[in-house]
Amino acid sequence: MIRLGIIGFGFMGHEHANMMATLPEIDLVAVCDTVPEQLADAPEGVETYLSADELLEKADVDTVIISVPNDIHLEMVRKCAEAKKQILLEKPAAMTVAEFDKMVEIVKEAGVHMTVHQQRRWDVDYATMKEVLRRGLVGKPYIVKSQLYGFNGNMHDWHVYPEKGGGMLYDWGVHLIDQIMWMTEEKPVSVYAELKNVINANVDDYFKILFEYESGMTAEIELGTYYLTPKRAWFIGGTTGSAVIDGTFRAQGNTEGQIVRTRHLLRSVPGKLTMTSAGPTRSFGEPEPGLLYTEPLPDVHTVHRDFFVHYIAAREGREPDQVTLPQVRRVLEVMEAIRLSAATHQAVKI
Ligand SMILES: NC(=O)c1ccc[n+]([C@@H]2O[C@H](COP(=O)([O-])OP(=O)(O)OC[C@H]3O[C@@H](n4cnc5c(N)ncnc54)[C@H](O)[C@@H]3O)[C@@H](O)[C@H]2O)c1
Repeated sequence: MIRLGIIGFGFMGHEHANMMATLPEIDLVAVCDTVPEQLADAPEGVETYLSADELLEKADVDTVIISVPNDIHLEMVRKCAEAKKQILLEKPAAMTVAEFDKMVEIVKEAGVHMTVHQQRRWDVDYATMKEVLRRGLVGKPYIVKSQLYGFNGNMHDWHVYPEKGGGMLYDWGVHLIDQIMWMTEEKPVSVYAELKNVINANVDDYFKILFEYESGMTAEIELGTYYLTPKRAWFIGGTTGSAVIDGTFRAQGNTEGQIVRTRHLLRSVPGKLTMTSAGPTRSFGEPEPGLLYTEPLPDVHTVHRDFFVHYIAAREGREPDQVTLPQVRRVLEVMEAIRLSAATHQAVKI
């Protein structure tokens, strides 16, 4: 049985407490927050403390989830490691690679285990598109697109402060990049990015990131908090079809989409003129009836709870960690390359 404490009982702390109620292998023993009102609705029987120090000193826990704002992750990792607790750290693990390296040094020295809550690897839309690629369902891919658009561009609370680790690249970027990085065996070799502050003065609220692969494939991530046409979408274009997910955002992902194919491969077909209101075209007219057909996307079942199912299995030695420290470091390295690219308007080798 894992005996758990949660440090930082805000939005994510509460999400974790709710999740723990579904996992018999984890006993939520204590939570802490520096703001007393945050503790008012702690689950019955769970101890509450007003500081991490107090929780670490008094609560009988062997594991902690750290879900405080990003700028104090390192401080909390240090405290927890010194108290010899196993650590489950919220994303983004650190604000820089240097800060993350410090954390890894600390946990190694203390001999405690640490992993990071990158639970969006278990988003069902991502897992479905990953399966499309794994099974080669659209042939050789030339483009993968991941899009997340919202309408409420205002950052809230500490997310408006760059020094606290605010901004969308740290918030959602770390998930969307993490997904792309582990989507295929092949890894990107360079990145080009644009980061914009559309309606927020101090932190980014829009980004577009283009990854280039040695094979010629491109992966594109676009996020806009103030797009005003909300959606979560994926597109994979390959040599034998297109896989599409195009729906509204749901917390664990959705799979409103299909694979689209042509009845016959359109290699070396003679050009055929189609009249459109804008004049003749040989490439973008209406497809002849029956040319395009659809197939369902692969049936994949994942939920965020799976992150914890794997976490428990890893803690019991039944499988390796799913989210490893080198993977987390690689994503942070790529995020630094993204910031460099956005600042210099140049592609950066990664
Ligand atoms: N994995 C995900 O999908 C996901 C989603 C949201 C947030 N997060 C991450 O979780 C972390 C917390 O984000 P949030 O949205 O829950 O923020 P939040 O502001 O809702 O909650 C943070 C809580 O930490 C408390 N706190 C601040 N300093 C503290 C201290 N020194 N000791 C104890 N408590 C302290 C605050 O009072 C607050 O209640 C961030 O790192 C964020 O990036 C992850």
